[in-house]
Amino acid sequence: MFEWTPTFWKGWRESSSPYRQFKSERDRSLTVQALQLREADRVLEVGCGYGWISRALLDAAKIRWVGLDPSESMVRELRTSLAAYQPRALVGTAYHLPFAAESFDKVICTGVLMHVVDEFAALQEMVRVLRTGGLLVCSMNNALSPFSLPVRLRNHRKRGFIQNFRRPATYRRYLQALGLKLLGIAGDSLFATVPLSIGRFSFPPARAFTAVRQIDQWAVQRFAWLAYEVWFTAIKAASP
Ligand SMILES: C[S@@+](CC[C@H](N)C(=O)[O-])C[C@H]1O[C@@H](n2cnc3c(N)ncnc32)[C@H](O)[C@@H]1O
Repeated sequence: MFEWTPTFWKGWRESSSPYRQFKSERDRSLTVQALQLREADRVLEVGCGYGWISRALLDAAKIRWVGLDPSESMVRELRTSLAAYQPRALVGTAYHLPFAAESFDKVICTGVLMHVVDEFAALQEMVRVLRTGGLLVCSMNNALSPFSLPVRLRNHRKRGFIQNFRRPATYRRYLQALGLKLLGIAGDSLFATVPLSIGRFSFPPARAFTAVRQIDQWAVQRFAWLAYEVWFTAIKAASP
């Protein structure tokens, strides 16, 4: 069975591949940009892992951050590596957030919803703890990405590993059904995010990284809905 561990996820996030390094940094900047953090914001990070995104949030502004992840080893690693920030990190699942309704100004969930069984139930719980007028930023893997099919085929070999690819329209519907107003979408990258490796060969090749990144940066601004991972920023509207 597959288990999320800091060793596995650090290997991905902090890989020597220029494409993965680019993606990890882009994930941080997209998240910080979307959240528009202000001092004293109450921020909940769902599925915080070992703290890759969390560090960027804690560096961006003096926020009141709480993180949650079901993996004990991830939470332990986060507490150690971010000890200087005295983080409040809990072990728990997105389906049952141990907080009162409307307790956060911002909720962030990156790279998580594609790995859960019931994304809608998880989103519903995040919206419950978000205050009216607060921001939700979440990401999903995109079924329209050119990498969707090869990655799904590759995942067949990984027992117990969930990675759902959805169309952006599906998430739009989810957010709408939960009473959120979509403010915008952004994409990580069209081609520069997941090099596919077969033996010693990798596509796109590492030596083409600079050129691929330049084309990609231009393309992803215009075609975010084709990106590998799509970020949604939405506001919780007042009930009618
Ligand atoms: C791909 S990692 C992303 C970690 C971090 N958000 C990041 O962007 O680096 C997926 C994370 O989702 C967590 N996760 C899996 N199922 C979850 C659930 N039901 N609720 C909350 N987090 C979950 C995993 O433990 C893991 O830390």
